[in-house]
Amino acid sequence: MTTAASAAAMPLLAACDDKAKPKTDDTAKPKPAAGPPLTFPDGFAWGAATSAYQIEGGATADGRGPSIWDTFSHTPGTIADGSNGDVACDHYHRWESDLDLCKQLGLHSYRFSIAWPRIRPDGRGAVNQKGLDFYKRLVDGLHQRGIAPLATLFHWDLPQKLQDQGGWENRDCAKWFADYADVVFTALGSSVPTWLTINEPKTIVQVGYTFGTMAPGKADPVAAAVAMHHLALAHGLAVRAYRDSGASGRIGAALNLAPAYPATAGDEAATKAAAIADAVENRAYLDPIFKKAYPTDFIESLDEGVRTALQGAIKDGDLATIGATVDLLGVNYYNPVFVDANGRYQTIKPTSAASWEQIYPQGLEDLLVRLHRDYGDLPLVITENGIPDPAAADQDHGRIAYLRDHLAAAQRAIQSGVRVEGYHVWSLLDNFEWAQGYTQRWGIVHVDFASQTRTPKPSATWYRDVIARNGLAAGD
Ligand code: FCB
Repeated sequence: MTTAASAAAMPLLAACDDKAKPKTDDTAKPKPAAGPPLTFPDGFAWGAATSAYQIEGGATADGRGPSIWDTFSHTPGTIADGSNGDVACDHYHRWESDLDLCKQLGLHSYRFSIAWPRIRPDGRGAVNQKGLDFYKRLVDGLHQRGIAPLATLFHWDLPQKLQDQGGWENRDCAKWFADYADVVFTALGSSVPTWLTINEPKTIVQVGYTFGTMAPGKADPVAAAVAMHHLALAHGLAVRAYRDSGASGRIGAALNLAPAYPATAGDEAATKAAAIADAVENRAYLDPIFKKAYPTDFIESLDEGVRTALQGAIKDGDLATIGATVDLLGVNYYNPVFVDANGRYQTIKPTSAASWEQIYPQGLEDLLVRLHRDYGDLPLVITENGIPDPAAADQDHGRIAYLRDHLAAAQRAIQSGVRVEGYHVWSLLDNFEWAQGYTQRWGIVHVDFASQTRTPKPSATWYRDVIARNGLAAGD
């Protein structure tokens, strides 16, 4: 990747913003190769993931309020194909057959997100019972099918009314989030065994606030720094609300983490730059939660104005709140970063059809082992991993190879003692891929958006067999 941070410049964002931009197909598609059988531990949770705005549709159904993604996607020029999530996979109306599909695949766990604007259409104030009822039905439907619900409280769809009041730049937003979380915990707390607070704060900070190519569309590093801290605070306040609710399940965050390597192995300057990139990509989000501190090298790497803004946002007691004990960590893994001597990101591995996604399965093993080493013996759940495969629905063999190689990497980490409890492929369904609209198909199940027909792809059948045998077969 070429658009990256230099160690000297403001690297709050660091990653390239390709996630938000239309790209040509430069997919590398390895063919499935023979390998030894790899079995996973008993009880390993095989899952699939989705998020509310990407699949639900029903944008105004039953009192849902607008979110920043409704606003953003309806703004001309923001989405590659000019589309939006108004209908998406129409999951709001088709959830029962979608859950049947999950059962047919043999999923043990289904990760979904709850839309804040369905629960509180204005973000705060009146609770919309019909919104809560939707998720109650969904959770009940999962239990009826023997599938464990894994619920994310926030997957980027901030109520627009809160954005109008400053959104994540407003410190109060952290409290509004905890208030919303409390409503959800009261309604669903005991029926959902595992909760995730905020999905990928880094993407919000980097792409939503620094590049501005995803909602809320700000290109303002100072705002990004402030939002970053308030997102962390929101996580901590929600964990506190969960403990106060008395619910007996588990809670953690879902972080997208990217192991950082020097582009040239052994190069001293590139190795140093990779350490900064590691701070920006990983430790800046991990350390507040697990060490009650922002990494010093991260703070030092910021431009003065950005550093001052971040430090100004941190109030007494915040880091103790953010560092409240969590029960697990959700790990979204898509790509590593390779950094040259000038701190610039380099694309040195093949990418998927999403050009920000370098394919490097070894990075997942390295990441999991490192989390275990540096952050303790915490249960890790892979909450997202996958690729868009542009091939026709009946030919997504590139995806099978990708999933196989990443599962093998996770299995190696497990063999070396890391507590990896589960894996969720991104995604169950083709869906609205944010600023890429419907141009990238990330699902193991094909969706014909005109007819809303679902057709499992070869990867879905392959994954079903992996689940059934609790591992990879020889030759997978
Ligand atoms: C992750 C997001 C998810 C989806 C995948 C491809 O960063 O959490 O919603 O967009 O990327």
